[in-house]
Amino acid sequence: MSKLKVYDVLVLGSGIGGLSFANYFLEKQQTKSLNEQLSLLVVSKGEADQTNTAWAQGGIAAPVNEADSVSLHVMDTLNAGAFVNDVSVTEKIITQAAEAVQDLISWGAEFDKNKMGEFDLGLEGGHSNARILHHRDVTGANIQKALFNKFNHLKGELKAQCVAIKVTKSGKGFLVLLYDKVEKILHPIYCAQLVMATGGIGQLFLHTTNTKDSNGDGIFLAHQLGAAIRDLAMVQFHPTGLYVKEGKDFLITEALRGAGAELLNHEHESFMLKYDQRGSLAPRDIVSRAIWNEMKLAVKPFVWLDATKISIDHLNQHFSNIIKNCIDRVGIDLRKELIPVMPIQHYSCGGILTDEFGMSTVEGLYAIGECASTGLHGANRLASNSLLEGICMAKFASEKINGGKQIETVSITNIPTDLPDQLSVDVDQVKLILSEAAGVVRNRLSMTNAVENLEHLKRNALNTLFEVADFENTVTLELSILLLQDAISKEESIGVHYVEPITDNR
Ligand code: SIN
Repeated sequence: MSKLKVYDVLVLGSGIGGLSFANYFLEKQQTKSLNEQLSLLVVSKGEADQTNTAWAQGGIAAPVNEADSVSLHVMDTLNAGAFVNDVSVTEKIITQAAEAVQDLISWGAEFDKNKMGEFDLGLEGGHSNARILHHRDVTGANIQKALFNKFNHLKGELKAQCVAIKVTKSGKGFLVLLYDKVEKILHPIYCAQLVMATGGIGQLFLHTTNTKDSNGDGIFLAHQLGAAIRDLAMVQFHPTGLYVKEGKDFLITEALRGAGAELLNHEHESFMLKYDQRGSLAPRDIVSRAIWNEMKLAVKPFVWLDATKISIDHLNQHFSNIIKNCIDRVGIDLRKELIPVMPIQHYSCGGILTDEFGMSTVEGLYAIGECASTGLHGANRLASNSLLEGICMAKFASEKINGGKQIETVSITNIPTDLPDQLSVDVDQVKLILSEAAGVVRNRLSMTNAVENLEHLKRNALNTLFEVADFENTVTLELSILLLQDAISKEESIGVHYVEPITDNR
């Protein structure tokens, strides 16, 4: 174990939530005298630039067009979220959107422009206006680069390949045990404020668009600290994951439907208008359920996405990453052939409950980005609102924490070195149980049986010596149970949580 280190703020996660927070925070420190400056460390679980942010394709939504407005964007967000969003948080974030975009640009992000020099705004499902700023179809990678550009310029401190395995409240702050995956040692850190920016929970499922590190450990650690967790059952499935028989999952951006691609069934008929007048550009929960239904009717594991009506020039210019990936992964040239697609786990609309500044119900513990539940997304996130939420909430949280005082001198003599309890579980079985019970369309009996099966696995699992994989598998099991319990507790189908009505067959 290394020596205890003390920071005013520890940030777990290096995607848009974590790094934007660090950038706003460090920028403010530079305006203070040296002895008043607060210290900050960012920790990333894997390679620091391999985040869900870096993988984002579509873009960031912001009402920057003259024909658009904050109120229209707010209305689309509420509409997609089934009107259970927190209206004041939604208004606060969207009002901040245009400034957040300018901040990203000042950090080095580049958004595509048209021939007139205006932003080339894309359209995605549920938006009444084209308002998606993008960098071709690799927006996230460009934003991630800009975040690091600014962070490095500010001389931010970062530790990569370290996973937080235990957090305890200690005095007014937190003692965090980091496990260094490369050096294979523990680093104890004491911090006054702890910011979770650990991303999503995709790795709880068999198929996901999320990175391999996205198994919700920030949510798990916050739950262990007693923080309120809200709406874990609100799992968004992206309608168009690439259907791959073998190999890694891949997202086909909604921007392709925004550019005119259409969903077709196995008779090659366009079907979305049967389900919603907005067709292929209805909000994601509606499109995913329609696809699920068409797959069931045809007894096939996918439907088709037809991009062949879009001009080849437009496709080459805007979707080169997707074209290449479809060829490499499934041997399909989307400029001439139909793409097989299926709904795929994409985003957690719930998470650690926060207020409008990102503060959780535990004093000093903040959550930003996908691991948080701010109320912006309601029961179904509007496309491209997630990068927006990440940067705006980072700003609000940083302003709040920057108003605080420097850490009080701490003398911690008793660093808890006991490693967390962990179980040896067959994680593939856990993922299968959760994926079948908590998919696009749910069934009350299946969810109840799934919880019983997972509890049974937990009771019969052996305790094991510490290994990162076992720690993650234990988190996967515990969060899967929490997610299903939340789903069962919801009486009504709403947004992404859709439970089949019970049919009376007498
Ligand atoms: C996409 O490009 O379709 C994903 C965008 C998002 O999830 O907001």
